[in-house]
Amino acid sequence: MIQYNATHLSTAIASSEALITFAAGKKLVSQNQAPSSDIQLLLKEALDSGALTEKAGDVIQLHCLQGEKAQLQKIICVQLGKSAKLGHEAKSLRTAAQSVARASKSVNGKVCVIADGISCSDFKSATDNARWLGQQFATAIEKAIYIYNTTKPSEKSKTRLKKLTFIANKAQTRAMNEGLKTGRGLGQGINLARELGNLPGNHCTPSDLAQKAQALAKQYPKLSVKVLNQKAMERLKMGSLLSVARGSAEEPKLIVFEYKGSNEKSPHVIVGKGITFDTGGISLKPGAAMDEMKFDMCGAASVFGCMQALCALDVKKHVVGVVAAAENMPSSTATKPGDVVTSMSGQTIEILNTDAEGRLVLCDALTYVERFEPKSVIDIATLTGACIIALGSHTNGLMSNNQALAEKILAAAKSSGDLTWQLPLFDEYQASLKSNFADMANIGGREAGTITAACFLSRFAKKFAWAHLDIAGTAWKSGAQKGATGRPVELLFEYLSQQAK
Ligand code: BES
Ligand code: MN
Ligand code: ZN
Repeated sequence: MIQYNATHLSTAIASSEALITFAAGKKLVSQNQAPSSDIQLLLKEALDSGALTEKAGDVIQLHCLQGEKAQLQKIICVQLGKSAKLGHEAKSLRTAAQSVARASKSVNGKVCVIADGISCSDFKSATDNARWLGQQFATAIEKAIYIYNTTKPSEKSKTRLKKLTFIANKAQTRAMNEGLKTGRGLGQGINLARELGNLPGNHCTPSDLAQKAQALAKQYPKLSVKVLNQKAMERLKMGSLLSVARGSAEEPKLIVFEYKGSNEKSPHVIVGKGITFDTGGISLKPGAAMDEMKFDMCGAASVFGCMQALCALDVKKHVVGVVAAAENMPSSTATKPGDVVTSMSGQTIEILNTDAEGRLVLCDALTYVERFEPKSVIDIATLTGACIIALGSHTNGLMSNNQALAEKILAAAKSSGDLTWQLPLFDEYQASLKSNFADMANIGGREAGTITAACFLSRFAKKFAWAHLDIAGTAWKSGAQKGATGRPVELLFEYLSQQAK
């Protein structure tokens, strides 16, 4: 656990192993005169020499000559870009915060960050600005220190950092401390989402998720959880969700978190796709990179991460989080192409492709949440490969039946840096779901696959303001950096806490 604090006292510099400062172009950002004149001179010379490029996030490290009692070993300067007055969205600050995190991680002991003088045009008050800065730094640091070693015990944490002190103007230290706390809680929520996503399919079945949900609820008095097993889902006539699990030995689970951070009756609801492994079922996927289908529960993981962050930070909101968990396998009991099932809503579905299973579990979860009379419902799902074709792996796809809600989510996406783009949900696309044998088919053909998947879901979301986030491209990285990203926990948390205001 890393300790964070903000203070106006510069005494922390002397007892730190490393000092971090910021530059804007060739100028030092801070007006703080606390660093010794030697240090200031050293930094000035380094900046004048052009050793630090003007690209945000670039870093120079100066190593101090070891005096007898000198504790300070490193002086680090991080580039903010052309100006310390950051524009809207302040991507450069996030990049710089990542550099701070990388540089701090290996420091054995304490790091002192001189954080005055950075401002973002999004904030009118210096206090809000400081709160935001604290949050950005702590989130970046928490993300940077995460490692996956649950099934690879030989992977050891290299983090030696124990304490980070931010030196700010006296009037802003309190807000910055609040921001640091939020950033830490949020970062830890993001890391929970990453951890669950990274777990292999055999270590993270629907039952495993249910157990983890119960363990989470035990930690926080305001969080409760209810787990619906197969029998309970049969009673509710969730024929669509159940059809996905039919080929698997693993029992499906519908996990329902309720976080009562306030007494409001209607909650905001988030629903995550929790396919703990997606083979495609009888419509079997090709073998290449199929291992990555363990990440098909990253929507569910983001619900876990978000619920944890809400609890840890005591956000004053009523939030319900639902996880529709199942494993999609081929077997003699599996659903076959052409099978028709009846969803909880009563609408029948012809399953033309068993690999379009995410929408089949989500549709029953959406019908289920009607009972909460929600203020808004957001589902999060690694739903379509087509979304990766449309938007690549940088951007979440957003679709909604309510433009006011879509705009709130886009605003939260902007302020959290969680890139998101809206796709249309025009009625014209609905026709592609026509079936001769059921109320609808579960696939719409080759064109606009992300939109037709959302059209399918929209038929189960008529009773509330609903938005759908397709995170197929953003939830994990492939290749050498293979691993879950924890997206879009930051966006969800930002959206939900904005509603709290
Ligand atoms: N989980 C996949 C979507 C996916 C694929 C996400 C690759 C990330 C990377 C989903 O269940 C799926 O298989 N969707 C099909 C739908 C199709 C059959 C209409 C797809 O995208 O191919
Ligand atoms: Mn699939
Ligand atoms: Zn899937």
